[in-house]
Amino acid sequence: MKSPGNQKIRQLIKPALHISLFFPAVYLVYGFFAGTIGINPIETITHVTGQWGLRILLLSLAITPLARITRSGWLIQLRRLVGLYCFFYAVLHFSIYLVFDLSLDFGFLVEDILERPYITVGFLTFVILTLLAITSPIRIRQRMAHTMITWNRLHQMVYAAGILSIVHFLWITRVDDTEPLIYALILALLLGYRIRTAYQKIHRRQPNSTALYQ
Ligand code: HEM
Repeated sequence: MKSPGNQKIRQLIKPALHISLFFPAVYLVYGFFAGTIGINPIETITHVTGQWGLRILLLSLAITPLARITRSGWLIQLRRLVGLYCFFYAVLHFSIYLVFDLSLDFGFLVEDILERPYITVGFLTFVILTLLAITSPIRIRQRMAHTMITWNRLHQMVYAAGILSIVHFLWITRVDDTEPLIYALILALLLGYRIRTAYQKIHRRQPNSTALYQ
């Protein structure tokens, strides 16, 4: 599918993604200085960065199914960019908590990780996202081809990050669970799609597997 219209979409999609994924950060910085993000701006920043981290994580997981369904392989090239934006919001989210809630006291951080389950789960998610961001450059991917852990296997941990971040969100929510449950449903659909394609691949590789049992 290399029509001129398609080519135009390809050229526009990257700048459009940069603008839309960076917009929440601009909104927060502007709101912080203009005093338009509520009476507790730090709380707002924690919430908004957490929400966007999770939304962008789900967007990164939706790229492969979207590329397969629309037969647009080039979309896969956008996965790293979207994944790095997710990490960017996770870093902001974690830094705000570290600076404003804990005053950079790493002893308190260890205590919180050990004693508050939603922080434990959030921290685990953050560790996974950090690992994925560090190993995302193409050079590292090529180098990992010779190691025990293959790059693809490591990057499948993004699904664990998705599950953990939703658990983290559900743990925090006290009144209305609708938003985290919508994210859980989206994640379940994306996971279901991946499991189905993996199952189909295995069956394609063993076309006569059932014949053994007949
Ligand atoms: C060390 C890692 C993390 C820490 C310490 C942390 C801490 C927090 C805190 C303190 C809150 C606000 C809780 C409240 O309002 O009572 C929060 C909310 C949230 N966090 Fe995290 N978090 C971490 C990692 C993450 C990651 C990696 C994600 C997703 C990518 C995430 C997504 C969220 C979401 C979606 C919310 C709820 C936002 C809302 O209330 O609308 N968190 N987190």
